[in-house]
Amino acid sequence: MEKVTDYLVRYKNYNFAVGYTTAEYIDSLQSFEIRDSDTFLVTYPKSGTIWTQQIIISICELDGGLNEYPNNLEQMPWLEYREGREDYSLRPSPRLFASHLTPALLPPGLKEKKAKIIYVMRNPKDNIVSYYHFSHAIADLESPKSFEVFFEQYLTGNVGASSWFDHIREWHSKKDQYDILFLTYEDMVLDLKTAVTKICSFLGKNLSEASIQQVVEKATFKTMRDNSKANYKFLPPEKLSGDFMRKGKIGDWKNTFTDAQSQRVDRLLQERLGDLSLNFIWE
Ligand code: A3P
Repeated sequence: MEKVTDYLVRYKNYNFAVGYTTAEYIDSLQSFEIRDSDTFLVTYPKSGTIWTQQIIISICELDGGLNEYPNNLEQMPWLEYREGREDYSLRPSPRLFASHLTPALLPPGLKEKKAKIIYVMRNPKDNIVSYYHFSHAIADLESPKSFEVFFEQYLTGNVGASSWFDHIREWHSKKDQYDILFLTYEDMVLDLKTAVTKICSFLGKNLSEASIQQVVEKATFKTMRDNSKANYKFLPPEKLSGDFMRKGKIGDWKNTFTDAQSQRVDRLLQERLGDLSLNFIWE
């Protein structure tokens, strides 16, 4: 892996936080065997990963057949980080994985449309602000000197998981190769029940109205914040000093962005992703 900064290393065109994984392990994913029963949650960081993780886990729990793990991270670990866990190929089915990787780095078996992928996108202005705060909270990322500095790093892709623009383009342009459901963070905020229902039917789970309501209640910001299996407070304080569950709002970017920064993101969106006809909700 090539050193980018004291906190980031680059491999196969993608920035990883130092110490989280190895080139050999990332290479080994090219022969990682995918099962029909696998479910993947793929996101760019700070797009609602742990929220969707909680929804998918609750749905699968109510459907039955999930093995028990102490918390959501162990129940649905990131494929790219082993962090001392057992070999994932030995995990019993059904397996749940999260990932921030781009299509090229994930196991090719996913392209045979064996497993299901849920991809969650968040508007980039709120994504930047959330990522900025998270970079202060998590010890393994560089604490940005200022929002302006982080803003530039983000726009040039000099952050963990590289460029948001590339991530969105890669996944949208390759969508026909996968069995994939696209959701947005904003749709989930505006109508959580519809999002839960969509996820349920995509996963082929037939839950009753009461069970769907239960999943919704377990996934509200307030319930999740107090749920020690879901709120990531189980991470040691020397690793995480702030909160994954920070604000959970649409439009928080307005408290941080200047007009010029906002216009710059608008322009970049048009230049880099304009052809994808994506819809963004900003407030
Ligand atoms: P903010 O920093 O804007 O509050 P990820 O899980 O991909 O790291 O994303 C974290 C973001 O999702 C944080 O955004 C967090 O508050 C938000 N989030 C997590 N659970 C949520 C929930 N139940 N409802 C709304 N937002 C949630």
